[in-house]
Amino acid sequence: MNTYMLATDLDGTLVGDVIALKELLQFFESQPYNVELVYITGRHYDSALSLIDSESLPLPSILVTDVGTSIYSGSELLPDSKWEKKMMENWNPQAIKEIAMQIPGISLQSLPDDRRVSFYVNDNKEASMLRQKLKESDLSHTFVFSSGRDVDVLPEGAGKGKALQYIVKEYADDQANILVAGDSGNDLDMLTLGYPAVIVGNAQKELLEVNRENIYNATKACAGGIQQAWKHYYG
Ligand code: GLC
Ligand code: MG
Repeated sequence: MNTYMLATDLDGTLVGDVIALKELLQFFESQPYNVELVYITGRHYDSALSLIDSESLPLPSILVTDVGTSIYSGSELLPDSKWEKKMMENWNPQAIKEIAMQIPGISLQSLPDDRRVSFYVNDNKEASMLRQKLKESDLSHTFVFSSGRDVDVLPEGAGKGKALQYIVKEYADDQANILVAGDSGNDLDMLTLGYPAVIVGNAQKELLEVNRENIYNATKACAGGIQQAWKHYYG
């Protein structure tokens, strides 16, 4: 039997239009098959769980938090320790903070731990300066810029795309029919892996120009766009 997976970002993608979300979940319920849910968010774990609770989202079978630096699975959403260990290799958050703090205007996001280091910037120029300074350092990292405001500096080999590839390898049926969904810069790497994907109609500027054969550019916002794409790919 075919298996199906929705690998989706939360804020601005699955979440953001209450009625469309309800319709999407009902649509999935009415299909003869089960759709496995994988949530891939920029939020940290507690923040993701509180969103799942406040929006009454179904619990996913896998939850990826902190822009792909952490993976949780099973009914208790326990951390994947193999991935965790991989993320710790060559990871030097303190040195990254010190470099960033030399750039005026950039502020550190307040997060519960250092599995990633994230900042708020005021404009693209500040983000480019930080990107450049980190490039010139010999610190291994992954740089992600979203919504003209958020910069996430992650361990090398992290990111939503890398986490999704790992999930497909370690957890999923490799024949699964996957739809990847997103709305902003931190989703770009998973949207461009080559799986059927959707950029929802309300996407941030940085995704509006993205045109790829594997990507459906939805006209509807949030869950409405996911449903459009699901019908397009899987009938
Ligand atoms: C979410 C997170 C924030 C991160 C942003 C972009 O808003 O809460 O920490 O910087 O996503 O990935
Ligand atoms: Mg989003």
